Amino acid sequence: MQKLVIEGGTPLFGEIITQGAKNAVLPVLAACVLCEGKVMLRNCPCISDRYASARILSALGAKVTAEGNSLAADCSDLSSDDISSSLMKTMRSSIIFMGALLGRTGKCTLCYPGGCNLGPRPIDMHISAMRKMGAVISDEYGVISCTAPEGLKGCRHSLSFPSVGATENIMLAAVTAEGETVISNAAREPEICCLGDFLRACGAKISGDGGGRIAIEGVKKLTPPPEPFEIIPDRIAAATYISCAACAGGELLIRDCAPAHLEAVIPVFEQMGCRLRVFGSNIYIYKKGRLKAADTIRTMVYPGFPTDAQAILMAPLCTAEGTTVFVENIFENRYRHADALCRMGADIRAEGKVAVVTGVPHLYGTVTEAPDLRGGAALVCAALGAMGTTEISGISYIDRGYEEIEQVLSSAGAKISRMTEEKQ
Ligand code: EPZ
Repeated sequence: MQKLVIEGGTPLFGEIITQGAKNAVLPVLAACVLCEGKVMLRNCPCISDRYASARILSALGAKVTAEGNSLAADCSDLSSDDISSSLMKTMRSSIIFMGALLGRTGKCTLCYPGGCNLGPRPIDMHISAMRKMGAVISDEYGVISCTAPEGLKGCRHSLSFPSVGATENIMLAAVTAEGETVISNAAREPEICCLGDFLRACGAKISGDGGGRIAIEGVKKLTPPPEPFEIIPDRIAAATYISCAACAGGELLIRDCAPAHLEAVIPVFEQMGCRLRVFGSNIYIYKKGRLKAADTIRTMVYPGFPTDAQAILMAPLCTAEGTTVFVENIFENRYRHADALCRMGADIRAEGKVAVVTGVPHLYGTVTEAPDLRGGAALVCAALGAMGTTEISGISYIDRGYEEIEQVLSSAGAKISRMTEEKQ
C-alpha cells in the first residue's frame, strides 16, 4: 500500500497543466462500444478509473492500446456483453456500459456499480429509462440481465432529477435506437456536452446537450471520428490545484483548463481573498495572508456549485477568518472528510446536509486516511497549508481521479512524496 507524505507550510510557485477530465473520458470510453472501428482519443488522464474502463472494454473483446494521454479503442469485434462484478465494482461509471451495450448488441449482463461511498446511489433512473425504451431487465441476486429482443425504441424521458449518469446512459442507448428520443430535465454538466460532441463526431444525431433538453434521432450505426477526439480539461482537478494554492499560499498558473466550467467556483475563491485572473484557457491565482470565510456554499447541479468541489473548498476555509456554512444537496453522506480535517485541528460540525466550518488559525499535520476521491484531495490541500507533516493513506482513492498528484504538486514546490507503507 502507498501513502502520501506532505510537509506543510511551503508556498507554491509555478505552472500546472490541467489533466483531461475523469468524468468526461469515462462515458466516452463506454461510447466506444457503439463504434465499429478504431477510435482515437487524446488528453485522456492517466488515472486508475480510466484503466478500469479500458479493462472493461478489453473484457468485452475490444482492442485497447494506450501511450501516455493518448488511447485507441477498437470495438469492431466484440466477443462478449457480460461485465463481471469485480470490474463493475471498481467504479460508478461502469453502469454507463448498460446503454452502450444495449445499443450495440441488444443485450448485456452486469451488476450494481461500485464507486465512492457518498450515501445511497441507486440506479433506478437508469433501469426505468432502459425499460421505457423496450429493454427487458431482470435483477436476480444482484445480477442485472438486460435484453432488447426487438431493439431499443426512442421515446420521451422526463427525469425526476437531472442525473449525470442516467442522462449519459440514455444518450448511449438512444443514438442507435429506432426513432426519436427526447430527454427533459437532462443533466447539463460539461461532461454531457463532451459526450454529445464525441457521439456527433461518430455520426450521431444529437442536439440540445448542455441545455437541459436533449433530442436524439437514432441512426443505423456509429463509426469512429475521422480525427482523434480531445477530452475536455478536468474542472474539478483545476479547482483542486487552485485550492492547493489557497491553502499553501503562493502563485500558481493553472494552464489549459476551461475557466467557463468554473463560473460557480472562481467567485468563491475571490470572496475568500484569493486574487484570480482568467485569461484564455488559464487561471492565475495569488494568495497571501489569511483567508476570509465565504457566504453559504450550496451544492447544486450544473451550472450551480459542483458537489465534487465541496470538500476541496472546505479545506482552505478551515483556516479562514469567520464561519462558512455548507449545504450538500446532491449526496446524502458527503462529509466524511470532515472528521479527518477535525483531526488536523479544524472546527467543523456536520449534521445531515449541513456543515458549519468555523475557521481556526492553523491546521496541524497528522496521520490520516482518504475517505473517498474528493475527500482525499481535500486532505492533500489541507496538509499543504498545515504545520508539520501529514501522512495520508488510502490514496488509491486519489489515484482514481488525479494524475500523479505528488509530481504535479512537487513541480510547483510542494514538499510531497509517495511512499510505500511499511507492513505492520
Ligand atoms: C456523476 O455521478 C459523477 N461521476 C460524480 O463525480 C458527481 O458527483 C455526480 O455526477 C454529480 O455531479 C461521474 O461522472 C463518473 P448522478 P453520478 O446520477 O452519475 C441520485 C467524482 O468525485 N440518483 O447525477 O453517479 C444519486 O443517488 C464523482 O468525480 C438516483 O436517485 O451522479 C445522487 O444523489 C463522485 N437514481 C443524485 O441522483 C439514479 O438512478 C446525483 O447522481 C441516479 C441518480
